[in-house]
Amino acid sequence: MHDLLSVACHQVVDSLRDVARPADRRRQRLAALGSVEEVRSAARSALPRVIFDFVDGGAADEVTLRRNVEAFDRLALSPHVLVDVSDPDLSTTVLGGGVDVPVLGAPTGLCGLVHVDGEAGLARAMQDAGSVYTLAGMSSYSIEEVRTAAPRGRLWFQTYLWRDDAIVDGLMARAVECDYEALVVTVDVPRSADRRRDRRHRFTVPPRLIPRSVVDGLRHPRWTRDLLQHSRVTAANIAGMGDDAVRVASYVDSQFDPSASWDDLRSLRARWKRPLVVKGILRPDDAARAVALGADAVVVSNHGGRQLDQAPATLSVLPAIAEAVGDRAEVYLDSGVRRGSDVLKARALGARACLVGRPIVYGLGAAGGAGARRAVDVLAEELRVAMMLTGVRAFDDVGPGLVEAVGSA
Ligand SMILES: Cc1cc2nc3c(=O)[nH]c(=O)nc-3n(C[C@H](O)[C@H](O)[C@H](O)COP(=O)(O)O)c2cc1C
Repeated sequence: MHDLLSVACHQVVDSLRDVARPADRRRQRLAALGSVEEVRSAARSALPRVIFDFVDGGAADEVTLRRNVEAFDRLALSPHVLVDVSDPDLSTTVLGGGVDVPVLGAPTGLCGLVHVDGEAGLARAMQDAGSVYTLAGMSSYSIEEVRTAAPRGRLWFQTYLWRDDAIVDGLMARAVECDYEALVVTVDVPRSADRRRDRRHRFTVPPRLIPRSVVDGLRHPRWTRDLLQHSRVTAANIAGMGDDAVRVASYVDSQFDPSASWDDLRSLRARWKRPLVVKGILRPDDAARAVALGADAVVVSNHGGRQLDQAPATLSVLPAIAEAVGDRAEVYLDSGVRRGSDVLKARALGARACLVGRPIVYGLGAAGGAGARRAVDVLAEELRVAMMLTGVRAFDDVGPGLVEAVGSA
């Protein structure tokens, strides 16, 4: 007990020092983070455990969460040598527009809990990195606020097939008004899954004061101070639909529609006139069906292992889905991308680009929008190195010959 107390005291002192740390020392610390795993560790130190686990955790036994990452290790890169790689080109196009790096921001809700910069910071980071940011419908910052934060950014907007079409129509109209260029409809949430870490922590929105969370808050004074000052803890886009955050949370839960079907996707396609991306596809037949209904792109995704535990790793189902889709639509991949070389492997197996969720949210937790930008820069630099060492001059030139299966890592 005495040891525990003394560890807790040291953490409080360290955190207080951190609050007082001058900006340039914070910048140096950030620049020293050289991998997504290091960014993750920094987030783990900066955040109360309940918040870190909300980001880091997956569904049930977290088998799929682990499987996603391990699948990349079972694939080796097979390098070409003696290629002039003095100026590798990382750029590509998604939905007809250019991106400087093939790493897009995945939709992640309630990021105001992670850092006061929230989705505004994430959108800004992706804009500055020259890529796309997808705003989650369940974000802590509104559609309008995020457009203001990233006035030049390429923004996509994510929604679910909610019970009430009028809500989705209202959100879509606001997204068009703010020049979001595509709608991403997430189809792998007929209901929410059992997130055991959240259940064990009794995680609520907004965070509830129980003795453990008070101690946790004291150990992370920067996070607690920001939360108390700015209180970005609810779903901004649907503000007004419940009187307070707790009611909003249960309102949202009641809107997940287990009866949503392909007919609802067809109806959404008819109502949304811009490009449509279907996220959460894990089978070639579903991919083909989405494309036949008019999807411009599909995201091979298992929600980062946060929905169906026991789902396959996205990398293992990617080749068959890419083949089923052919050149009728674009194919992206998310779930488990942690290194630049992962992006290269996904491209070799048919993904035009990757989305990342946790990597940028870890960055946000570690150091706000600047931390998210650091995470993208790390992935871009790793991709550059991987391309040069495999003799790849242009990301768009990558084909299946670049990878080979190696069994276990
Ligand atoms: C904290 C968090 C919140 C998320 N919220 C949403 C969401 O609101 N809508 C959605 O479609 N996906 C959501 N996702 C899933 C991501 O869009 C993405 O599919 C997943 O994070 C990719 O896996 P990765 O985290 O391993 O990169 C969330 C993921 C995280 C980590």
